[in-house]
Amino acid sequence: MSADTVRTRAEARDWVLSRRAEGLRIGLVPTMGALHAGHLSLIRAAAAECDVVVVSIFVNPTQFGPSEDLERYPRRLEADLQAAGAAGARLVFAPEPEEMYAADAATWVTVEGLTDRLCGAARPGHFRGVATVVAKLFHILPAHTAYFGRKDFQQSVVIRRMVRDLDFDIQVRVMPTVREPDGLALSSRNAYLGPEERRRARCLVHALEEARRLFGEGRRDRMTLVRAMGEVVRREAPGANVEYIEVVDPETLEPAACAEEDSVALLAVRIGATRLIDNLPLVAPPDPVLPGA
Ligand code: PAF
Repeated sequence: MSADTVRTRAEARDWVLSRRAEGLRIGLVPTMGALHAGHLSLIRAAAAECDVVVVSIFVNPTQFGPSEDLERYPRRLEADLQAAGAAGARLVFAPEPEEMYAADAATWVTVEGLTDRLCGAARPGHFRGVATVVAKLFHILPAHTAYFGRKDFQQSVVIRRMVRDLDFDIQVRVMPTVREPDGLALSSRNAYLGPEERRRARCLVHALEEARRLFGEGRRDRMTLVRAMGEVVRREAPGANVEYIEVVDPETLEPAACAEEDSVALLAVRIGATRLIDNLPLVAPPDPVLPGA
């Protein structure tokens, strides 16, 4: 079943407020469309935990830099509506950029500190665009819980900090990364990879697994882990452009002088023209326990 679609902020807000007035619990899944199994797992998680699920599909221009892939970013609304509906979404909010941003919009949400490092260093203004559009979506679609993927780890930390600092009345759930059988994290940008690049792209998860393996052997020195990850990338994807490889604190995103149980390894690598990111906690979280087990 295809989800209902609204294009304006007023319709979207009215719909959500009406469901809230009926006493229903609303789950929100913000996306930029080109929905893949990772997005669908967020919609399913929202459907399992909430009474109704709203998905936003908006390729947000303010989070793309001038030389980034805004024009090229995959757009396939009809297929997305079907997929979102089948996964359990009741409403899709799919506005045009002019509906979301006044021509003279001048107000931004900036989460300081967390956004100037890692992806923020290479993509100045990116997280300002993300935080601003997510704040707007939280106002337009006043849900009880919003769902984000852990694949965009820095984004999830930035959004959680914004929610805390600005007192948004919304719970943020960060859900596990969904991977291909060979470990590659699902991303809408994987569609840009040619067959040979797709093979080389596995270096990201292999590098993260190497960090996890070394940590498991008792290695705690951050640079030892970072160098080992770099070696995996160089070996498996010679010539790939490494943007960053780090081991960080999960709240502050500061490099962990000495890796800890809760540290997160993360990296951004360009395979050909495609920029890919991935992350793993150094200690694997316990397997989920099935209800009733
Ligand atoms: O993760 C994304 O798809 C986007 O950054 C988000 C959160 C929908 C904001 O545009």
